[in-house]
Amino acid sequence: MSNYNTITVEKRGKVAILTVNRPDKLNALNSTVHVEAVDVLDKLKKDDSVRVLIITGAGEKSFVAGADILEFEGQTPVTQRNTFQEASLFNKIDQFPKPVIAMVNGFCLGGGNELALACDLRICSENARFAQPEINLGIMPGGGGTQRLTHLIGEGRSMEMILTGDMIDAATAEKIGLVNHVYPIDQLETETMKLAEKIAEKAPIALQLSKEAVKFASRSNLDEGLRREVDLFSICFSTEDKKEGVAAFLEKRKPEFKGR
Ligand code: COA
Repeated sequence: MSNYNTITVEKRGKVAILTVNRPDKLNALNSTVHVEAVDVLDKLKKDDSVRVLIITGAGEKSFVAGADILEFEGQTPVTQRNTFQEASLFNKIDQFPKPVIAMVNGFCLGGGNELALACDLRICSENARFAQPEINLGIMPGGGGTQRLTHLIGEGRSMEMILTGDMIDAATAEKIGLVNHVYPIDQLETETMKLAEKIAEKAPIALQLSKEAVKFASRSNLDEGLRREVDLFSICFSTEDKKEGVAAFLEKRKPEFKGR
């Protein structure tokens, strides 16, 4: 994989790990991170050896402390709109055809929280802190925060985070459903890898279609969602992996899914 300036990418078996690597700036997302991360996602999407992606930040202090505030200077409404639409990193993650896990290892603020929200699962360390602090800069979330956060934790809690900009701790984030699990920092990577490896053994096409169906739930009404679900479910019946899964169950052995 190419050399990048602001991110690193590592493959461990069927799991890829994308690390935002600007620890001196608490991994703030500048435009280079957006461009480089989008490039990696495009490559990993086509790489059949990768079944699950983990996204994290370098160091133990911060996952991502938000959009790079320095880049806000000099932006006009038009250039800012274009930057956010063109970069589209969050939407790329949302639509990435493989499960994506945010491994949140510290500050998860603003665009960092929006990055985590675009992922499918969020696992964090006990020192993680979450906020949408844009209001303190006289602006508001622009990378999906008002929408994805509200879908995930509900209007009242989302409103409080967005209107106050206050940080919440890891235990609160778990209680309100913002994160799936919390671990001591020294266990975060091991536990996240265990989860990623478990998912990586499942049937890739069924994973992709499951992700699509679950994401569709917050974008449609119940009838449309149920119709979409049954269509996607039926597609699973065209796969070799479905034959393998059923055969393995009947033969009392572990299935070996090929993504076909
Ligand atoms: N954009 C650009 N730079 C950022 C940044 C951001 N979102 N968040 C942190 N940094 C930089 C700081 O400017 C500092 O750089 P410097 O050493 O060149 O001065 C470096 O990262 C370390 O941050 P610092 O503020 O010194 O660490 P801290 O432990 O005192 O505070 C935070 C940590 C997260 C509370 C504080 O950095 C902060 O409030 N950051 C902004 C968060 C935010 O508003 N994000 C949403 C943006 S829309």
